[in-house]
Amino acid sequence: MLLLAVETSCDDSAVAVLDENGTALAELVSTQMVHGEHGGVVPEIASRLHMKILPELIREVLDKSGTSLDDIDIFAATAGPGLTGSLLVGLSWTKAVAFARGKPFLGINHLSAHLHIHHSSVVEFPAVALLVSGGHTMIFHMPSWNECILLGTTRDDAAGEAFDKTAKLMGLGYPGGRLIDQLAENGNPSAVRLPSPLGNKRVPEFSFSGLKTAVRLIWEAGDVSCEDLSASFRKTVCNLLVSKTVYQAGKLGAKSILVAGGVSANSLLRISFKSECDKRGMKLFLPPIEHTMDNAVMVGRAALSALKIDPEAHSPSSCNTFARWHGEKLSPLSC
Ligand code: KG4
Ligand code: ZN
Repeated sequence: MLLLAVETSCDDSAVAVLDENGTALAELVSTQMVHGEHGGVVPEIASRLHMKILPELIREVLDKSGTSLDDIDIFAATAGPGLTGSLLVGLSWTKAVAFARGKPFLGINHLSAHLHIHHSSVVEFPAVALLVSGGHTMIFHMPSWNECILLGTTRDDAAGEAFDKTAKLMGLGYPGGRLIDQLAENGNPSAVRLPSPLGNKRVPEFSFSGLKTAVRLIWEAGDVSCEDLSASFRKTVCNLLVSKTVYQAGKLGAKSILVAGGVSANSLLRISFKSECDKRGMKLFLPPIEHTMDNAVMVGRAALSALKIDPEAHSPSSCNTFARWHGEKLSPLSC
């Protein structure tokens, strides 16, 4: 069985061909660099570029995997949450091809997809998962792959957004999370005292906007280097993310911690989770760096997870995009 997965929720066009075990025969991600000039993603430009890039990307991935559309048994695409114009391109293309060929189509939830990057690993349940990206910061309780219960989220900015805004403040460019991470390696994490909003580890919620303001005031006072501010900021954010996730894992008797999303590429976050999990005898699942960011392999694995629960699973032809996810239980199939 072969599955073609498509992801276009923001500014990355991504396509993958997977087998029934979730192994990628081929995958490609095309990142739209143009948004850096604008200091953030411009939705209209993003959707138009998906229109331009996607057909060629699909052809390349099929060639790379040695398959053709005739070989594909199941089609899956991200339905949301994300930018509506961007989502519409991938969802409409994939749905149209599936229906034209009489093959099942699955509309996938992007948040669930991020967590499902770990679906091909042997995860021991119960687990606690942290999804930490440019748009989301959420902790979930996962008694199994079939159940994913939201424990808490951010009250304002996402962690990745806080990284990006801090980088912008220091004139580092967009997206800035990786740049701050690199600068922090040469800085003193104790150089600046920053607040830890909602710092009580027992509260599974986050707030990063006060931290962002504190960083701005310190930067504007002009008495700190980029390296030291980056290191202090990174340490503060990582402490919040790790302490709250690990606390929930302990409280719920989790055997594993799953981390996913763009910020899970952060080097301090990865080291801190590893040392905390080692101390507690918990298994830690971190995505390989190339699968921390948006990709289509995670979309394909989420589709396979939905098919494992129900082999007949599919989305109706009316399956539509959605910009935001408001819920308590996260499922791979969005409609
Ligand atoms: O998951 P993702 O590709 O897109 C969303 O769904 O949001 O995440 C992108 C986010 C950006 O905010 C980016 O700055 C952040 O991930 N990011 C990092 C690092 N690499 C990417 N943040 C901190 N440290 C990194 N090394
Ligand atoms: Zn994402």
